[in-house]
Amino acid sequence: MQRVKQFLADNDFQVAGIDPAALLRQFDDAMTRGLAGAADALPMIPAYLTITRPVPINTRVAVLDAGGTNLRVATVWFDAHGKPHMENFARSPMPGTQGELSAGEFYEALAEFLAPLAAKTSAVGFCFSYPAAITPDCDAQLLRWTKQIKAPAVVGTMVGSSLRQQLARRGCDRPIAVLNDTVATLLAGKSAGVARHYASYVGFILGTGTNTAYVERNDHIRKCQGLNPAESMAINIESGSFAQAPVSRFDKLFDATTADCGSYSFEKMIAGAYLGGLGGIILHEAARAGLFTPATAQALLAMPLPSNQELAAFCHNPFLSPGHFATLPLTEADRRTALELCTPVYERAARLTAINIAAAVIRTGTGADPLHPVAINMDGSTYHRTKAIAFAARVQGHLRDILAPRGIHYELLAVEESPIIGAAVAGLTR
Ligand code: BGC
Repeated sequence: MQRVKQFLADNDFQVAGIDPAALLRQFDDAMTRGLAGAADALPMIPAYLTITRPVPINTRVAVLDAGGTNLRVATVWFDAHGKPHMENFARSPMPGTQGELSAGEFYEALAEFLAPLAAKTSAVGFCFSYPAAITPDCDAQLLRWTKQIKAPAVVGTMVGSSLRQQLARRGCDRPIAVLNDTVATLLAGKSAGVARHYASYVGFILGTGTNTAYVERNDHIRKCQGLNPAESMAINIESGSFAQAPVSRFDKLFDATTADCGSYSFEKMIAGAYLGGLGGIILHEAARAGLFTPATAQALLAMPLPSNQELAAFCHNPFLSPGHFATLPLTEADRRTALELCTPVYERAARLTAINIAAAVIRTGTGADPLHPVAINMDGSTYHRTKAIAFAARVQGHLRDILAPRGIHYELLAVEESPIIGAAVAGLTR
């Protein structure tokens, strides 16, 4: 145990040493500077969606949800009680995850999938889970790809109008409201919690990627001119790009293997697309440093980087050895060493996740009144399904440790299919 701890410390891998108060200050500063338009801060992208408009009832809207792994479509309508009804659901792999696409091929793939549903409705809500600058009429310009999507020519294009053109070619020209998945998650939390009178809302996602949205007063959004100072709007923080979390030598080695090396370091420390690879690098380096028996070290060095699912399953039950781990000639001591090396990947992710969520909650400036807590809608497979270290419960513990002493009241929500429901709200209310 000591040997593993020393090895992690020698490589600057911090878990207990992470200082929540210091990171919260840095998060807050990066948010403030981002709202003022600083380029080296958090993007803080205004969603141009107020959260106060009533959602029309009994009206169908088509929804396209472009996530890191899947492309999903559905039609949605809300009944008189505000309950969403989802129909015509279909899923296929996200274009750009199965080989590189041109911009034309990318938008054709989206339109092909969406057109039959768009034809049944008069508007589209498009949940686009990537950093994109939103225009006041809810179109969006892709700033960069994350999650290793391969369609480089799409960067810089307007995703709403490009998709609309492709839909028009198929005979179903429809207005499209584009929003980030965290903004959709925030809206889904709002629509599910109308009866509770929350003070404010946060949408948080930890799946293939990670990000956070919250509601900001317009007069704080200094980089935007002409906003009504009496109103507020949802802000997509792009919290995965936070650059001040303390990285280890392993994070740097792993980052060098990614297509977007040097960016989104926070996302690469906590999100599902990356945790497996990071754990794999740690195992490789430990094998090189002589922490395993020779046979295991050799096998580890030949093993490709595991997926997050494989690594998390191993950390949850090291005797089940799924996927690549099954091929390793692990002795009892090797198995213990591998577990002790990789569990901290999840422990650190849980701490950083809690700090990230708390930063957004604190930023709302609300929650002092227990009658009106802050609603935090939590979405994403990595948060909800990682069994290693009972991940979600661990995050919740850290979050309580940060927010309770500050007297902030909050409630965690988990609205099913949040990105789709929130995109439906945007499509209907824009
Ligand atoms: C993207 C965000 C998105 C998040 C969660 C990140 O990679 O940059 O825009 O909200 O993943 O899907």
